[in-house]
Amino acid sequence: MDKLLVHGGSTLKGSVHISGSKNASLPILAATLLTKQTCIIRRVPDVSDTNYMIQILTALGAEVERSSGTVRITAANIDHNAPYEIVRKMRASICVMGPLLARLHKASVSLPGGCIIGDRPVDLHLKGLEGIGADINMEGGNMVMQAPDGLHGKEVDLRGKHGPTVLGTDNLMMAAVLAKGTTVIESAACEPEVVDLANFLNKMGAKITGAGTRRITIEGVDELDGVEHTVIPDRIEAGTFMVAAAMAGCPENGVTLHRVCEQDLKPSTDKLIESGHHVEFNDTGTSCTVKPGSEPIGANIVTAPFPGFPTDMQAQFTSLFAITPGISVVEDTIFPQRFMHCAEMTRMGADIKVDNGTAIIQGSQNMSGAPVMASDLRASAALVLSGLCSEGTTEINRLYHIDRGYENIDDKLIMLGANIERVRE
Ligand code: EPZ
Repeated sequence: MDKLLVHGGSTLKGSVHISGSKNASLPILAATLLTKQTCIIRRVPDVSDTNYMIQILTALGAEVERSSGTVRITAANIDHNAPYEIVRKMRASICVMGPLLARLHKASVSLPGGCIIGDRPVDLHLKGLEGIGADINMEGGNMVMQAPDGLHGKEVDLRGKHGPTVLGTDNLMMAAVLAKGTTVIESAACEPEVVDLANFLNKMGAKITGAGTRRITIEGVDELDGVEHTVIPDRIEAGTFMVAAAMAGCPENGVTLHRVCEQDLKPSTDKLIESGHHVEFNDTGTSCTVKPGSEPIGANIVTAPFPGFPTDMQAQFTSLFAITPGISVVEDTIFPQRFMHCAEMTRMGADIKVDNGTAIIQGSQNMSGAPVMASDLRASAALVLSGLCSEGTTEINRLYHIDRGYENIDDKLIMLGANIERVRE
């Protein structure tokens, strides 16, 4: 298993190009199952999660060609059974359920396991699909679903105890596009990645309105066409690099990020400014420059569904707050267990107390490098950021976590001046 050696103390400068969104790519790749025609998806990041999705599509019978960021998919003849050995590796595989049910009126997908950030239930996915006519049974660890009479539009409320569900909204939207009649999703997720999927489906000929609001309406159509699409920039990768710049950027010139989307970054931008750092976008909001403030202060974060502060950014901000004078409080209302990174940062000298879904951080300047363990995608990135600002070397093990969702993060940071080595083992 690869590991990263992060030698602290470098100042980051220059510019970095942000990759296409992993979390937009995954449902859009799944949505190509909805047509026999060829789809071409551009700016798909080369990370293990998108590779897993491509393996699943191939195993289902689709023809898939990938050349760097462009993926060409023709799902002419497909099977309804998603292979367990791949599905078990990535929870997001469940977003093939909706398209398979819509296209074949049946699907068999293994129940995803929990993961380090929480037990990750799928009850809302099932509620949505059953709501429009799917019969779903558990057989040998698989969710076996069928709709012998087809799917029929209904009004379904997808709110759970932690709020809306992103992939649950995606699954129902993808199932509803070929259903008879009109489906309304109440308490829908509003994330930009959901909007990107809706835009892709509408290009294919779907009739979806309200994406980006809590109420999405889908009028069923008979068939969809193959189209070309470029996925939106990855707002979480961009947010991660914005925090890196606030922590270790050159005070005079800062770090510039290209290929971003200003409106998608608002929660992170606002929090960086609140903490005393400087963020400036270009006129079109497609590039931004982040400079560390001279007198940074701690801040408080409560994660919430979009447009609230994203859970996927709380670990990275915890790294920032760990070296920011003052007390900061980070509460994750979406994944209350998502604090594995705090114990690792404590090994590096951070002063963090975690209790009942909340981290209380007493910032200090003296963090020191140590061997640490990556646990989930965003926690791993947060540990890299902490390593950048620590005395000595931080050894980050289990690098496969970070490779799931960050395209060449080490190369990109090295280009900005970081002193990082990837050790292949
Ligand atoms: C998506 O996961 C993202 N993944 C996650 O990003 C992100 O953290 C999450 O949304 C929240 O924003 C992808 O888009 C591939 P949810 P998803 O369903 O859709 C509960 C990353 O780092 N829930 O929106 O699986 C759930 O437990 C990943 O890139 C139910 O109770 O998350 C959670 O508390 C990590 N029942 C809340 O809802 C369900 O049926 C939100 O989960 C489904 C979810």
